Amino acid sequence: MAAKAKRIGILTGGGDAPGLNSVIESVVRSLSGKGYELVGIRDGFEGIFNGRTVDLEREALMGVHSLAGTYLGTSNKSGTAGREEEFRQKYYALKLDGLIAAGGDGTFAGIQIVLSSDIPLIGVPKTIDNDLEGTDITFGYDTACAVVSEAVDALRATADAHRRIIIVETMGRTAGWIALGGGLASYADAILLPERPFSRSELVTYVKRLKNSGRRGLMIVASEGAAAKGEEASIAFKVEGSPQAERFGGFAERLARWIEGEADWEARHVVLGHLQRSRHPTTTDRFLTLAMGLEAARLVAAGDWHKAVVYRNGTVTNAPLSDIMKPARLVAPEHRWVRFAQELGIFI
Ligand code: F6P
Repeated sequence: MAAKAKRIGILTGGGDAPGLNSVIESVVRSLSGKGYELVGIRDGFEGIFNGRTVDLEREALMGVHSLAGTYLGTSNKSGTAGREEEFRQKYYALKLDGLIAAGGDGTFAGIQIVLSSDIPLIGVPKTIDNDLEGTDITFGYDTACAVVSEAVDALRATADAHRRIIIVETMGRTAGWIALGGGLASYADAILLPERPFSRSELVTYVKRLKNSGRRGLMIVASEGAAAKGEEASIAFKVEGSPQAERFGGFAERLARWIEGEADWEARHVVLGHLQRSRHPTTTDRFLTLAMGLEAARLVAAGDWHKAVVYRNGTVTNAPLSDIMKPARLVAPEHRWVRFAQELGIFI
């Protein structure tokens, strides 16, 4: 008699990141036909609580790797706090032999609660913010940087045409990786990061110097969580039930109004927002995620649970799950990319 197929659940939690679909396609292509039944959990943890699943058939998944978003849906709510026992019961009711969860810090904070139980779990870290410890890079980040650099390069034309400063606000919460990567890749004139509170007077002096040198337009890339020295980041609103409740916003708009007055140079702002999450994944993110999906599948086949699939020293490998459950990985003050910006004469 043939052995019973093992049921493996896959869920995607937290903010979507380009490459999630590629992880799903890679896992399904790799495991299907080899004694596994792949079950998609709808909308992150919510799908466990309400039992909403979808059978993941190889044929139906072919080609989703090129799409942003997630085939499974996702949710920002970690949802397990205070509902641990219910979570366990609902999870066991799905009769899964293991779970692959692609998520960010919010997702793993939720999962940590159930780690003490015997739920076999493999984590695949994702966030466009690139701020997870334990992995050198998270997927979705390269795509987010592509959105930023393409936007800055494009906006330079209208900035020059109108003799304006344009401030481009990026995502990234408390970590400035997207502003730094996207700003460097587009040779922005100034890059403002949450990790490096800037001096207002130094920024004005720099902007005036460029104006006096005859520059027509000026491009500033600012992280949504950036702030001047001694000032608080700009919180736009809070989201009930989300592990990271604050949503940042408004910084670029306020900076534009202020710098226009100070430097006597017309200024506008552009908030890239969720465009940074919704572009089709770059080739780099596709390679990263197809390799991460394969590694997750290998861990499942080996029964090597409670591992995270990570990227270290130029290769996809695995590490204890606890390696990625740490506070946000921020841009170090002396990070070589900060130095690159300084050597290029970029205000940072
Ligand atoms: O953590 C990813 C992220 O995209 C942040 O960069 C951003 O601040 C936040 O999510 C936005 O979340 P939401 O989708 O709830 O607006």
